[in-house]
Amino acid sequence: MRKRFVTDPENQLWDNTHKNKRYSNRVFSLLDSDRVLEKVKMSLRNSLNCNSAVRALIPGCGSNPNLQVCCREVLGNLVTIDALDWSQEAIDISKAQTDRLGIDVTYFRQSYYDLSLTESSYDVIIVSNAIVSQSNANNVLAMTNLAKLLKPGGHFMGFFPSPFNMLDYALTNPNARKWITSGTVDVENRMIHEDNFGIQRFFSPLELYRLLKDIDLQVDVFELFFYDDHRFARQISELYHLSYDPGFCFWGYFINTTKK
Ligand SMILES: C[S@@+](CC[C@H](N)C(=O)[O-])C[C@H]1O[C@@H](n2cnc3c(N)ncnc32)[C@H](O)[C@@H]1O
Repeated sequence: MRKRFVTDPENQLWDNTHKNKRYSNRVFSLLDSDRVLEKVKMSLRNSLNCNSAVRALIPGCGSNPNLQVCCREVLGNLVTIDALDWSQEAIDISKAQTDRLGIDVTYFRQSYYDLSLTESSYDVIIVSNAIVSQSNANNVLAMTNLAKLLKPGGHFMGFFPSPFNMLDYALTNPNARKWITSGTVDVENRMIHEDNFGIQRFFSPLELYRLLKDIDLQVDVFELFFYDDHRFARQISELYHLSYDPGFCFWGYFINTTKK
């Protein structure tokens, strides 16, 4: 039976972000980058048998439908795509787009802290910067709950932000140096304090690597991924009120793992 959805302040923040700030158009989504999408497609091709039926889950799908598009493109008509987000607004925006493209996706409004999906039935779970609570306990819970939904041999793959990315930028851009003293980048707590997204707590590489192993995911790929795309450089300069530097890239982690 479907659980009743209970909202919390972080959920409301995301709902408002999607609703009021026209999130899909205004703030960067990694999923508008061809480099990012190519990485996902290549990993899907390398990890899954595209000639058999595959069940895919996209948690924290947000309003950008490009992961759903990638799944369909690589895995063809035999793929069943489920996507979930705790923001109804995000789901509505995303669904309108996948409907328009004729891609069949089942959307669930759920929090991955409290899932009513329980079966270990997915062949692949793909995340794109979607484990972003300000609470480490929530982020660990999200990963633990999601990993349980994979079949043995299934893949958990995707992109994770790093707390050290903004530190790195603060160290290499004099105009961002103040982020360290102002507390925007809180290294000790691995937290980022942003005007637009509130506080987010990200995993250090070792924290994430150890967590993946703890939740029975064999780590096949764990690499730094540079979001080297001039559109991100432009959006970041607008977002953080910094002068435009076309050489600027955000970076984060890309992982691909197999459920034991
Ligand atoms: C940074 S956005 C990324 C959206 C999308 N994956 C993309 O790359 O464009 C994070 C998304 O995760 C969703 N989210 C955050 N915490 C969640 C939770 N506990 N359960 C479900 N969705 C969540 C937010 O509503 C938001 O849509």
